[in-house]
Amino acid sequence: MKEKLQKIREHAIAEIESSDGLDKLGEVRNAILGKKGELTAVLKGMKDVPPEDRPKVGQWVNETREAIETVLDECTKRLEAEALRRRYEAEKIDVTMPAVMNKKGNLHPITQVCNQLTDIFTSMGFEVYEGTEIETDYYNFTALNTPQDHPARDMQDTFYLSSEYLLRTQTSAGQIHVMEAKKPPIKIISPGKVFRSDDDATHSPMFTQMEGLVVDKGITLCDLKGMLEAFVKRIFGKQVTTRLRPSYFPFTEPSVEVDVSCFQCGGKGCKLCKGTGWIEVLGAGVVNRKVLEGCGIDTDEYSGFAFGIGIERIAMLKYGINNIKLLFESDLRVLDQIDD
Ligand code: DAH
Repeated sequence: MKEKLQKIREHAIAEIESSDGLDKLGEVRNAILGKKGELTAVLKGMKDVPPEDRPKVGQWVNETREAIETVLDECTKRLEAEALRRRYEAEKIDVTMPAVMNKKGNLHPITQVCNQLTDIFTSMGFEVYEGTEIETDYYNFTALNTPQDHPARDMQDTFYLSSEYLLRTQTSAGQIHVMEAKKPPIKIISPGKVFRSDDDATHSPMFTQMEGLVVDKGITLCDLKGMLEAFVKRIFGKQVTTRLRPSYFPFTEPSVEVDVSCFQCGGKGCKLCKGTGWIEVLGAGVVNRKVLEGCGIDTDEYSGFAFGIGIERIAMLKYGINNIKLLFESDLRVLDQIDD
């Protein structure tokens, strides 16, 4: 019996040590110690051993079992460690490797400026009204105190679609729609594309404007000036101030051209401000009574101011762009640089 156990032991240890993986080790364990295993069979045969020999034989069986289990445990640990090492090796990450760069897109500069202006004005309580690009002659001109033979029509070369319809030349057309639809108080901005037959380094046949209109009791030019002052500081910087110059628009009286102190040289005079220290940024004025009355607004009770901003102009000034075409050519080398 002792010899038999010795053989089982030697054979088991040889099998265990030659196992090359945890699966194989499991199979070996089963073949020896499992329900139908070799050593289990010996244990089952104990009933045939004479009672006086049982303690001794039992002890041999136990010793054999312990010896096999010890080797099995060692081998299991070794193979587990080996498997872990291999897994770590396979999953190794080289943290010094250069990362794969994800190219990030950004909004078009016109959209960026439009969003910035919209944020500023909505924070002041303005609502956004989006008009339509095709307008009637009435909304684009006549209702804005610019009837058929008015000389101010020559200020804007218009694309007519028919004798009645045209591509709007100014977002001012939206003012009329808003005033017809809503009673004062009115406080809106209206951003959008406008069209004029005009084409050079600073003009494009299609460009973007943002209109502003405030109508309420007791509105004066001072309210316009105060609001503009706050606005330019937020868009160009705290040190910037405004200056109003007399101008002419048929739908405002008085009309003004608004300049900002040059945010590049601080007013000393540089290339950007053409040595004057001031940069023209928008047109504005007190809404002409005729325009308000045409929309059924009582001018004894209400007055208003309006302004119109050229978005491309603001973008060109802000980001140092010298040709408006750069904003329409979709050249990523240009557009990638402007991410505000
Ligand atoms: N509509 C004018 C233009 O396109 C800009 C403008 C000037 C709008 C004065 C206004 C305003 O609302 O009050 O040239």
